[in-house]
Amino acid sequence: MAPETTTTNGQVSSKKGSSIAERVEFLGQYLRNPCSIGSLTPSSNDLTDAMLQDLDLKNARLIVELGPGTGPVTRKILERMGKQTSLVCFEINQDICARLQDDLIDSRALIVNKSALEMPACLRMWAYGKADYVISGLPLKSINQREEVLDAVVDSLAPRGVFVQFQYNLPFLTGPVEELLARHFLSFEKRQVYWNLPPATVYTCGIPFHPPSAS
Ligand SMILES: C[S@@+](CC[C@H](N)C(=O)[O-])C[C@H]1O[C@@H](n2cnc3c(N)ncnc32)[C@H](O)[C@@H]1O
Repeated sequence: MAPETTTTNGQVSSKKGSSIAERVEFLGQYLRNPCSIGSLTPSSNDLTDAMLQDLDLKNARLIVELGPGTGPVTRKILERMGKQTSLVCFEINQDICARLQDDLIDSRALIVNKSALEMPACLRMWAYGKADYVISGLPLKSINQREEVLDAVVDSLAPRGVFVQFQYNLPFLTGPVEELLARHFLSFEKRQVYWNLPPATVYTCGIPFHPPSAS
């Protein structure tokens, strides 16, 4: 039987989709779009917990998720965020996005088939304002325009906003990603997650370098 997730406001956020079906779909999408999917499987429980640990999701006004994929992080955000919190998810893959829109029914969440690059314009157009948290599952090293994506994150965050990103622990990936993060944030904390395939590092980044004109 399909798993169900009950959110804090009592709504059922997931009405179908076994984790095996999720994994099969994810693998199929990876084979078709290796660079933008960037992973063979959805993130593990340990990884999604590590990403959300220490975030005050209950009192957040706006949370943005980039690259939700089949939704392992999205479901946890919905479970933990407040009744008044809004969640906007940007997913570039049309098939994955359609499945997630169908799977997660929650009046607090908006899941859109758009690139992370469109986030600042969309948040302005839809009058959401700036985000307290941007939580990313994007494969930063393999996607195009990663510098512009980070610019879009900085542009979308509130002055005290926090950005969370994970990266698989492969030396040729972590070095460039850390340099990229250091160009956009004053500081970041690292948390190791060994129970994931492959093991990963979660980066929690604070104090975005807002260009003077953006404040
Ligand atoms: C590694 S998967 C992560 C999925 C999920 N968050 C997880 O942790 O299992 C990366 C996701 O980012 C999406 N993606 C890649 N580039 C994107 C972009 N520029 N804007 C929005 N989503 C993007 C892919 O389609 C894919 O679903």
